[in-house]
Formats: sequence, C-alpha cells, structure tokens
Amino acid sequence: MSTERKVAQLIQPQINSFTAEDMARYRFGSYLNGGNGGPDGDEFAPAGKWLAYADRMWDASIGPLPGDEPVIPTIWGTDAVHGHTNIVGATIFPHNIGLGATRDADLLRRIGHATAKEIEVTGIDWNFSPTVAVARDDRWGRTYESYSEDPRIVAELGAALVEGLQGTPGDADYLREGRVAATAKHFFADGGTDQGVDQGDVNGDIESLKAIHAVPYPAAIDAGVEVVMASFNSINGVKMHGNRDLLTGVLRDEMGFEGVVVGDWNAHGQIAGCTVDDCPQALLAGLDIYMVPDDWKALLENLVAQVEDGTIPMAKLDEAVGRVLRLKLRLGLLDPNAAKPSARPNAGDYALLASADHRALAREAVAKSQVILKNDGVLPLKAGARVLVAGNAADDIAKAAGGWTLTWQGGGELDNSYFPNATSIYRAIESEASAQGGSATLSPDGTADAGAHDVAVVVFGEEAYAEFVGDRKTVVFEDTEGLDLLRKFKAAGLPTVAVFLSGRPMWMNRELNASDAFLASWLPGSEGAGVSDILFGKQDATGRLSFSWPADCGGAPVNGTQGALFNLGYGRSLADRSTMAALPEDCGYLTEGVSTAWFDLGRLDSGISAMGGDTRLPNLIGEGGGVVARGFDKDRQEDAREIVFGPGSTLSLSQRGDTSGDYRILYNLASQPAGPVTLTVGEREIDITRNFALSAGKGWREMIITEQCAPGLGNRIAFTSDAPLTIQIARIARQDMPEGAECSF
Ligand code: GLC
Repeated sequence: MSTERKVAQLIQPQINSFTAEDMARYRFGSYLNGGNGGPDGDEFAPAGKWLAYADRMWDASIGPLPGDEPVIPTIWGTDAVHGHTNIVGATIFPHNIGLGATRDADLLRRIGHATAKEIEVTGIDWNFSPTVAVARDDRWGRTYESYSEDPRIVAELGAALVEGLQGTPGDADYLREGRVAATAKHFFADGGTDQGVDQGDVNGDIESLKAIHAVPYPAAIDAGVEVVMASFNSINGVKMHGNRDLLTGVLRDEMGFEGVVVGDWNAHGQIAGCTVDDCPQALLAGLDIYMVPDDWKALLENLVAQVEDGTIPMAKLDEAVGRVLRLKLRLGLLDPNAAKPSARPNAGDYALLASADHRALAREAVAKSQVILKNDGVLPLKAGARVLVAGNAADDIAKAAGGWTLTWQGGGELDNSYFPNATSIYRAIESEASAQGGSATLSPDGTADAGAHDVAVVVFGEEAYAEFVGDRKTVVFEDTEGLDLLRKFKAAGLPTVAVFLSGRPMWMNRELNASDAFLASWLPGSEGAGVSDILFGKQDATGRLSFSWPADCGGAPVNGTQGALFNLGYGRSLADRSTMAALPEDCGYLTEGVSTAWFDLGRLDSGISAMGGDTRLPNLIGEGGGVVARGFDKDRQEDAREIVFGPGSTLSLSQRGDTSGDYRILYNLASQPAGPVTLTVGEREIDITRNFALSAGKGWREMIITEQCAPGLGNRIAFTSDAPLTIQIARIARQDMPEGAECSF
C-alpha cells in the first residue's frame, strides 16, 4: 500500500462532506453520519435511502486501483445509542440511565442484538456504542448516556451491550449476521469533569480516577469490544486525544486492548499545538482513526507529509492501519467475495425496524427501568378509573425519547408524525384504562374537569438535549408546568401521579410533595406502554436507582448517602405504599420567575416559551406562524438559532411568572430588512427598522433594551417583520444594566 492509501484508512469524514467520487479517489477507511447527518443531507431519509447510500460508498471504495494497490472496502459508523434512532420508524429503547435502573445484563444483551439487526437493515457496519461513562456530576449534559455513577454497574451492563452488538468471540455469528462492531466510549473519565462541564477537565490522582472511570474498559475488552473511542475531556490539563501515557500506556499496555482507537468529532483539534487538519500528535499518542468530519483532505495530505518527513514513523502508521484492517477482516469484509451492504443478511428487511419482537423488548426495558420514588397508595391505578392525563409531555414521543433521536438534539420540531412505530405515554394509558373498563382524557394544560375524574397523571420533564447543550449549573428544574398542574389537582382533591421524564436525577422536592405517587421515568423512548404497565400494575416495579438522588438543589455531586434524598438502589415495589413525609422546599438557587438566560448555548431555558405565531417552538426549534427556527453553529454545534420570518410573521418569547431585568440580545443580521420590523417589549411596540438597517452586515452585535425605550419591560418580547427577514440569535438574557442605560441595537 502507498503511504497515501495507508493514511486514508485512518481518515473518517462525515457523510455530506464528501462525494462518491471523493471516496473513489481517496478510499477513506471509514465514514460516519453525525447526529444530524443523513444520506444526501436528509436526516429523515427513509431506511432504503440509507441502504442505497451504503451501497454507493461501498462500490466507490472497491473500484479497481492502478498497479497492485490492494482494494480495501470502507465501513460506516453511526450513533445507534438507544436503538437505531437515526432512522424514522426504528425501535427507540430507553436511554442508558433508565437501563441502568434495570440492573439486567441479559436485557442489555438482547437490546444490543436487536439494535445490531436494525443497524444491518440500513447497511451500516459499526455502532459508536455503548457509552461506558461513569457520570459523577448530574449537571453533565450526557448523564443520561451513563448507566450509573457506580463503575461496577457500568462495567457489567456495558460489557453486556458489547456482547449483544458483536456476539461472542469465537461464535459463528461473531461480527457477522445480526451483529455489528461496538465501541466503548469515551476513554476515559468523560463523566468526571469539573462541575460536569462537557469536554471539560478532570482533576485528580490518575490511579484514583482509573479506579472509578476506567473500570468499565477491562470488562468491555474481555467482552471483545473491537473499538474504543477517545474522549474529549482532558485529565489534569492534558487532552486525552494527545495523552500517550493514557491512550497507549493505560489502554493498550496496562489493559491489553488490541483493537482500534477512534477519535471523537474533531477532538484531535483540541490538543495543544494541533488543528483539526494538522495533528500528528494524536497518532503518536495512540489514536488510530481521526474522526474529521469536514477537513479530511488537508488532514490526509498533512499526515502523508508527516510520514514522509519522519514526524510519524512508518512503523507507527503501519501499526494503526494494521488494526483497522484486522477489524475489517473480522467483519468479513476482506473476503474476496464479501457482500456489499444490500446483499448482506437483514439488509433491506424493513420489517425488522420496530418489529413486534423488538417493540416488546423495548416495552420490557421501559417497564424494568421505571423507578417509583413515592407511592402513598394511588398506584396501581384501579380498574375502571377515569384518568385525567395532563402535561405537555404526555403525548410527546420526542420528549420521551430525548437526544440522539432522529436529530442530534432530538425534540424541537419532531412531532409524533416522525414516530410511526411508537406509542406515547398518554396513548398507552388510554389503551390500558379503556381495556380495564375505565377511560383516559388527554388535557395537556390540565383544564379538563377534575371532578369528572378519579386520578390525574401529570407527565412532564426536560426538553430533549445532547452533549454540552444539556450542561446545567444546578439540578433545579425551573419549568413549573408539572408542579403547577400537580398542585392544581391536589387542591381540587384529585389524587395525583407524577411521571417525570429526565436525563438525570434533579431536585424534585416540590413536585414530590405535590404528588401522591412519583415515577422517575427517565427517557423511555418509543414504548409508552412500559410506563402504563407499571401505572396499572400489569407488572411490579423492579426499577432501582442507579444514581443517588440529590436532596439539595445546588447541583453539588452526590455519589453515595452523603447528600442523597434517595440512595442508589432505592425504588419501591407497588406493594410499598408507606406514606412519605413532606420534604423541605427551600432552595437557594430557585430563581422563581426570574431566569437570567432565556436562551444560551443552544438551549432555551425551561421556564421560557418560544412561539412562532401561536405555535410553540420547543427549544426554539421548529416552525409556526410563518416563522422557521433552526439550529445554527456560531462557536459550537447548534449553539445559536437562525430565525427566518415569512411576511408578517412574529416570533415571541415569554417567561412564566414575574420577572425583571433589562433585555440583552446577541444577534447577527446579514442583510438589510426589506420592510418594517417591530420589536414588542411588554406592552411597548418599537419600530426597529432603521436600527436593523444600520446593524445589518456588521457581524454579531448586542441589542440592549432598557426602560428607557420600553417602560415596564414586561415578561415578553416579540419580533414582527412585515417582509421576509433572516436573523441569527445566539443569546437572550435578562440582566440589569447600569441605571439610566439607553437602548442600543
Ligand atoms: C459526538 C460524541 C460521540 C459521537 C460522535 C459521532 O461529538 O461525542 O459520542 O459518537 O460525536 O457522532
């Protein structure tokens, strides 16, 4: 193999950043679809298009080469982290935090196998899963990707998922029919960063850190995991992707890992002295494959040059390429008659996606993951009960699925039409209530007549998020929609059941006090029936916390009895109906009604409602009333929004409860408005057409709105444009400016 062909085996671009012609010319060893990637730019493309794309790239990678250059097929990697959830219609299993509550390794093995089969339907070879993070700070936006704060639980369940995905080494089906390559990620201590900051720094003695965060890797290696993904975080200030002592010294020399180490999304670019297209340091530290979504050409050329000038010893290159080739050998892809993706078992068998067996398996997983934190006797719901089902999340499948679902962040504009093979929690309750001679009424805003019902089930929880977008400063759940409904029904004398959808334990003292029963439902996915199975007692609740539940709202890490309201291992069976004493509701971080950051880092604060016309735009994504709001990359992936106004359309944002503070809005207007633009602040309408005309084309600017131009300020702002207009917004906050500060744009 030529040096260039060898290096190409270590380059992994993202789909939509290269063409089949590029694949034929460069012969990338692998490629990926990121959380927002899909064939031909369509992340909602039907499964058949994914399979056709796999064939297209396979064919491009195996065309004959001049001379005696060996032809080596490419492979495709994807994040099927809770089912093959890139695909519309696939089974959506509970996220790992819920699976951790099951403690059921056999269940994980079966989920891995089912997931591998659904991945094969679309011709993909490799899953970037399981995450074997040991999350130790619940403020981390990826807590839900962790099975537990206890490394032993993570080790057991992570290894089981590896076995399910890959099969057992030595068995006939290992990495063959119904199996794909697995990836243990992110090595290591991704769940141990300071204050849970995603991609942040982990401080401490290496041996102590290994004793918590490295524990799952030997188990995954023993299970045969073929790939390990290096983590974004640094340890004591050194980025993992450039840390030879750990990436080679610990993972390979100490733990004996012989498989492939793949980098994370441009993470090599974070190494001191590196850029995303120039980084020999990572290969020298022990990385094999560079996940380089877009800058693949420059990186390939630089690596070739660095081998040729001796910066990278040829032996080092050969070692890395050898591991990649061994993976492909084990996958059967170097066989002379290796089948192209669509000719393999399960390929194109679309009935496998959310098959009855897979949905039943997911329903079993959901039921086993539910944890009853409180039950003063209202559960199980009685046969014949008239159930009032309230809360915006009750019939919202996207919210029950969370991040990494169809899109990277999930949620947003994903209404139920995107989930043809799923049952919302409401639908499941309605079906079971009716089957037992009762009824269920969906009333998201809770206005149905409480007196005409026997019990209220309030389904509420976190908006979907992924990675750093989910990072928080405390574990306060500011959105009082659920709390207000629970209190309302309690005041009306109606027994209440809280079903809380979250990617982590949060401070729920107020909601626990306002409910007669409280179910930690986590992020259950497509099978709402698993939740109703517990509510109606069709099976007992065996879910037990795999994380300590905090007593305090401040977010200080709780990993053990110290500071825990409920300990790891806690969870009630349905028979346990002992009443729970009232909990303290004081919280120093409760900014009831006053939320400083309305929108920041790609995340709409849970206490803020964004509307396009009269249509809600969860997390400021989606369309309605002529307004289209979509993710926009300012400094990081989707950390801002691009708002496109149709003629005469209005975008409004409002906060529940009392609020104060001047408005500060970070925005970018590329071109002049073509017609009048009005900003409404509280009750005051301000014509900002001229202001926008002056600020257009001048890059990111901060608009400051004070009482000087908008007396009262109120708790709502709205932009109305008479003509089409496009604006990018990165931050909206309430913050008092100095006395007398003027408005500026
Ligand atoms: C992301 C995640 C990683 C994922 C990869 C590819 O940034 O950190 O878990 O596998 O990129 O999507």
